[in-house]
Amino acid sequence: MTMIEKIDAAANAIREACGEAEIGLILGSGLAGSISLENEKSIAYQDIPEFPVSTAPGHRSEWVCGELHGKRVCLMRGRFHMYEGWPMEKIAMPIRVMKGLGVKALIVTNAAGGVNLGFEPGDLMLIDDTINYSGLNPLIGQNLDEFGPRFPDMSREFDPEFLKTAYEVAAKLGISLREGVYMWFSGPSFETPAEIRMARTLGADAVGMSTVPEVIVARHCGLRVLGVSCITNMAAGILDQPLTHQEVLETGERVKEKFSTLIEGIVREMKL
Ligand code: HPA
Repeated sequence: MTMIEKIDAAANAIREACGEAEIGLILGSGLAGSISLENEKSIAYQDIPEFPVSTAPGHRSEWVCGELHGKRVCLMRGRFHMYEGWPMEKIAMPIRVMKGLGVKALIVTNAAGGVNLGFEPGDLMLIDDTINYSGLNPLIGQNLDEFGPRFPDMSREFDPEFLKTAYEVAAKLGISLREGVYMWFSGPSFETPAEIRMARTLGADAVGMSTVPEVIVARHCGLRVLGVSCITNMAAGILDQPLTHQEVLETGERVKEKFSTLIEGIVREMKL
């Protein structure tokens, strides 16, 4: 099977099990259970042909489709990280499957470490730009011209209208937002204090192990993107305490309600 045939096979299985969508939503660590859709239908990743199955703790493994405020949304409960050892094409696949299912807008969320010293655990940050510090790129390999050009432009990764909508929705709901640059480290080890000092010097406000590859693939195939980070912990070396995945999950749990209210409000107001 060619890559295009694999993407089509996965999209067909999902379409049959739970239908198409106009908005794609990827939920980060500890945030997977935070959103539910109306008339939800789902398919387990293991039942989607050629699809990877997430292994990270705090991540489930199902593709869900349904409605939210009258809009068709597909939701990935569980995402794929480079640190799990997936080849680039598998990391790219879900985004391309979304494109095949009619998705126009991608909302990508994550748990992230706060690098900006003005941030606190529990803050929500709109991502306005990214730094790819992984040395990896999901578009490495043969270009799929059907999806986009060999050298896609990344000068405006995040949709200005979606950012504006997010601020308006947050203001109405009384939710305060941060905004900043998300820097991608491959993981799975957390960063060192020296790496975090470097990240801050380079202009990062938050660090994490996901999102950037998904955004690159989404922009390659012309999806409009909104990114939201949940600052689950201060990054390494800022506080005198070790970093744990437990803290990431606990903060995710604590902000779940604020997070889901914001995301649902954004979906309601988003103009596609
Ligand atoms: N570093 C990288 N990834 C993360 C962090 C962090 O501090 N917190 C949550 N995801």
